[in-house]
Amino acid sequence: MQYPYIKKAAPKGEPLILGIESSCDETAAAVIRGRTLLSDEIASSASVQALYGGVVPEIASRAHTDAVDLVVARALENAGVKKEQLDAVAVTYGAGLLGALLVGLSFAKGFAYALGIPLIGVDHIRGHLAAAYLEDETLRPPFMTLLASGGHTAIIHTVAETQFEVLGGTLDDAAGEAFDKVARVLSLPYPGGPHIEAAAREGKANIRLPRMLKGEGGYNFSYSGLKTAVINHCHTAQQRGEEVNKADVAASFQAAALDILVKKTVEAAKEKGVSTVTAGGGVIANGYLRENLSRACEEAGLRLVLPVRKHCTDNAAMIAAEGLVQYRAGNFSPLSLNARASIPLR
Ligand code: KG4
Ligand code: ZN
Repeated sequence: MQYPYIKKAAPKGEPLILGIESSCDETAAAVIRGRTLLSDEIASSASVQALYGGVVPEIASRAHTDAVDLVVARALENAGVKKEQLDAVAVTYGAGLLGALLVGLSFAKGFAYALGIPLIGVDHIRGHLAAAYLEDETLRPPFMTLLASGGHTAIIHTVAETQFEVLGGTLDDAAGEAFDKVARVLSLPYPGGPHIEAAAREGKANIRLPRMLKGEGGYNFSYSGLKTAVINHCHTAQQRGEEVNKADVAASFQAAALDILVKKTVEAAKEKGVSTVTAGGGVIANGYLRENLSRACEEAGLRLVLPVRKHCTDNAAMIAAEGLVQYRAGNFSPLSLNARASIPLR
C-alpha cells in the first residue's frame, strides 16, 4: 500500500533499510542492503534490570529514550550511510512493553516522515524468524523453524516469505520464561538462560524430571510441570537439610527443557517433507541446544541454518531482515501505526 507521506521512489537495486528494535530492554539499530548486513548496534539496560530481577517497564522506556538517538546514529555511521540514502525504516511495533515499543516506533515515524520513505511495522516474532535470512543469503522457504524466546515457544512452517503455518506452541510458559523462573529458584541472576547454561556446564543431568508432552500433544509444549518439579526438588532437599546441587539441577532442567524442542522440530520437518531447518529467539543462543539441534539435523539429513548467537537474542538486524521481506511484498505502514503489547502467532 502506498501512503501520501511516502515520497521516495523504490531503488533499482537492493533497498537500504534501517531496522530499529525497542520491545524490551535492548535498544538496537541496524542497516542492511538487501540481505547484506552493514551495521548492527545495540545498547542494553539488562545490567540495570538485573538489579530488580526482571525488566521494569518504566526503566526500560527511559533507557530507550536515552539511547535511541545515539544507537541509530552509530548504525548509520558504521554502515557508511547517510540517512538520506535510506529506502525504508523497519521498526518493531509489537509484541512487547508498550512504553518501550513507543520509543522506537515514534523515532522511526519521525525518520520515515522526514525522509519520505516507507515505515514498515515489524512483528517481533517474525523478526526472530527472519534472522536466519541474514545467516545464509541462499535461504528460501519452505523451511521449519524452532522459535524459542522469552515469550514464545513454537514450531513454525514457513511456506513462503509471508506465509506461515504454526504447527504447535507452548500451552503455558515459554521456554525462556521457564529458564528465567528456574534461575530465580536457584538464586541465579536475570536473565536466567545464560546463567543456567553456565551452571549446567559444571553439573550432570542426573535428576529425574518430567519430559513433558513427549509422545502426545503433537507439536505442543508445556513447561509449567517441569518448572514445578524443579521447585519441588529444591524444596524437598531444603526440608531434608541437604544442599541443592545447583549445577546438577541446571543441567537436568536444561536437558529436560531443550531435548524435546530438538526432537519435535526434526519430526515436524520430516512430517512436512521440508529439508531445511532454522531457529530463532533468545533460547537458541544456548550452546547445548545448538549442539544437539545440529547433531539431530545432521543425523536426519536436514540442512540447518542457525543464526549467530547475537542474532538469536533481541537485535535490530532481524527487524531489518523482516523489513526487507515486507518491503518486497509492498507491505508499508501508516504513520498512525500503534504499538501492540501482544500479537497472536499466525
Ligand atoms: O528473544 P529474546 O532475547 O527476547 C524475547 O523476545 O523474549 O529471548 C529472551 C529469553 C530469556 O528468557 C532468556 O533467559 C533466554 O531467552 N535466553 C537463554 C539463553 N540466552 C537467552 N535461554 C537459554 N540459554 C541461553 N544461553
Ligand atoms: Zn525477542
